[in-house]
Amino acid sequence: MSYEAFVSGTGGFTPERVLTNADFERMVDTSDEWITTRTGIKRRHVVDPGMATSEMSEYASRLAMEEAGIGPEDIGMILVGTVTPDMALPSTAALLQERLGAYNAGVSDMAAACAGFLYGLATARAFVGVGQYEHVLAVGAETLTSITNYKDRNTCVLFGDGAGAAIVSRGKGKGKILSACLRGDGRQWADLQIPAGGSLREMEPSDLNNGRRCISMNGREVFRHAVRGMTESARVALRDAGLAQEDVNLFIPHQANVRIMNAVAERLGLTEDRVFNNIEEYGNTSSASVPIGLYEAHRDGRIRPGDTVLLSAFGAGFCWGSIVIQY
Ligand code: UT7
Repeated sequence: MSYEAFVSGTGGFTPERVLTNADFERMVDTSDEWITTRTGIKRRHVVDPGMATSEMSEYASRLAMEEAGIGPEDIGMILVGTVTPDMALPSTAALLQERLGAYNAGVSDMAAACAGFLYGLATARAFVGVGQYEHVLAVGAETLTSITNYKDRNTCVLFGDGAGAAIVSRGKGKGKILSACLRGDGRQWADLQIPAGGSLREMEPSDLNNGRRCISMNGREVFRHAVRGMTESARVALRDAGLAQEDVNLFIPHQANVRIMNAVAERLGLTEDRVFNNIEEYGNTSSASVPIGLYEAHRDGRIRPGDTVLLSAFGAGFCWGSIVIQY
């Protein structure tokens, strides 16, 4: 790479309305105790009807642009990681472009499920690194409530809505992106899927009520692979950055389950105070969870100059990855 790529601004947005564990006790056969001890989740923020992924993306992106000190015309590419686009066609990136008025930009969505923001951030780094663009906007944004089956206790208690964004800039910014490790294993695709509504299985009238248009997950398998994938990719990313596990000041993992986050941290030798955790408040927001975490860590002063920050995520595909940023 000829140019260094920096994170120059971050932003996040979560809707105001909240669903608590008590709300789920009234909807399915579950308990606050089960949800809290098995997942770490207490609340999730959810959209009101009418708000979709591009709108949340806009609010997060505006904060990131403001911090980076750039205008919409400065953005060369918009990459939106999402499994809940506003509509199947066009991309959410195109809808976001219109909202921002960023008409000099290319637009594309990143289909990497919960790892969508990491794939976007790594792609942004590559674009900036080869000198193609000066500023790239990477977003992770989800309206997971639109694909959640509220009759399935195995999944419905997990998910929330939200958006996070980062501007990646050439040569200057707050945190230099040192390395990125992206991986996948398509053999495991069936363990985490939305069965109906694609070209393989078109939506039928019965799918509206049978849950097939919503997320279906083999939780235990995903759990097992998530721990392994996040740990291994983190080790590779740290090695490629020329750093060791003990150099990590803050680990921002995908917020899928506090037990997964703790298991990965333990394998990496990271104490709890180095692990960013807001899962209690937002639940699993898929591709939005890491950029919301990065934004909140900045906002709350948890990242200081000189710090090494490690990002990791794992999701459907399977696909996963880790990124190391030096502040
Ligand atoms: O973001 C993309 C990646 N996603 C993830 O990383 C999620 C990974 N998986 C997980 O986080 C966990 O597997 C879950 C939270 C989904 C489930 O936790 P678990 O400890 O793996 O539970 P389990 O699936 O092994 O189920 C244990 C029991 C079952 O009952 P039986 O068969 O033992 O009688 C479930 O039916 O817990 C039951 N159960 C529930 N009970 C009360 C499942 N969901 C619930 C619930 N309330 N909401």
